[in-house]
Amino acid sequence: MKEIVQQIMTDARYLKNIEYGRPRPGHPERKVKYHIAELEENLETLKSRGIAEDQYWKLKFLIHVHDTFKAEAVPDSAILHPNSHASLARKFASEFTDDTDLLNMIQYHDVNFALWKQFSGTGFYDTARFSTLLETIMDWDLFLMFLILDGSTSGKDPVKIRWFIKEVRKHKETIVDESWLLQNWTTSGEFGSVQGVLMSVIHPQPISITPGSGTVLKLLGVTHKLTRAQTGGAYYLFEFEFGPGAGIVFTCIVMKMNSFMF
Ligand SMILES: [Fe+2]
Ligand SMILES: [Fe+2]
Repeated sequence: MKEIVQQIMTDARYLKNIEYGRPRPGHPERKVKYHIAELEENLETLKSRGIAEDQYWKLKFLIHVHDTFKAEAVPDSAILHPNSHASLARKFASEFTDDTDLLNMIQYHDVNFALWKQFSGTGFYDTARFSTLLETIMDWDLFLMFLILDGSTSGKDPVKIRWFIKEVRKHKETIVDESWLLQNWTTSGEFGSVQGVLMSVIHPQPISITPGSGTVLKLLGVTHKLTRAQTGGAYYLFEFEFGPGAGIVFTCIVMKMNSFMF
């Protein structure tokens, strides 16, 4: 695998495509080559967990290939679209290896992010799609290691990979758990200052809404969101509509809201 990585790194298509890129949400590192460099740094950190030599080189392979065909991809295309960056990367990788599991890891490397987006937006995600992924990927140790490398870069929310590891461990035996998460989720000055909000599920807890709580929000046309002040610092998301003058106590999933700036 080491020789294959070296071949890839001298391939004209690789050398051209890694120059592609501009800063965007989730990828403040700009060009693909900077993303690769960041993942390689992460890999050196992960090495301290005692990963095997063949795992190391397979991870290198995934690092150098998975996002390298963004330059040639149809922007925002579905993961299985023949011209998505994942499909093009898989096709390229298949010139160098017939390891189906590795090729599938390239094809599906962004599915975890798609599932997280669904879950963080609605509290639910496509379980059929997740089941297909669980059945498709064989080496979950390796795949989770790679997703940690890819999900621990500046501009990416580490909450999503933590959530995904937990979901996988409900179904698969793997040595990778939360303790494998890299502690180097650092900020980068390269993209300038970015502000945002991270949401993480705390636990279901009762919330009481005092009479009149929803009045102002109702006036603004918002019927199912409360402010932090109204929930004691938490923030909740659900599809329950209450009257603007009503008081109510109920249990729901509470999301912790953390402001961040980098
Ligand atoms: Fe990707
Ligand atoms: Fe990536």
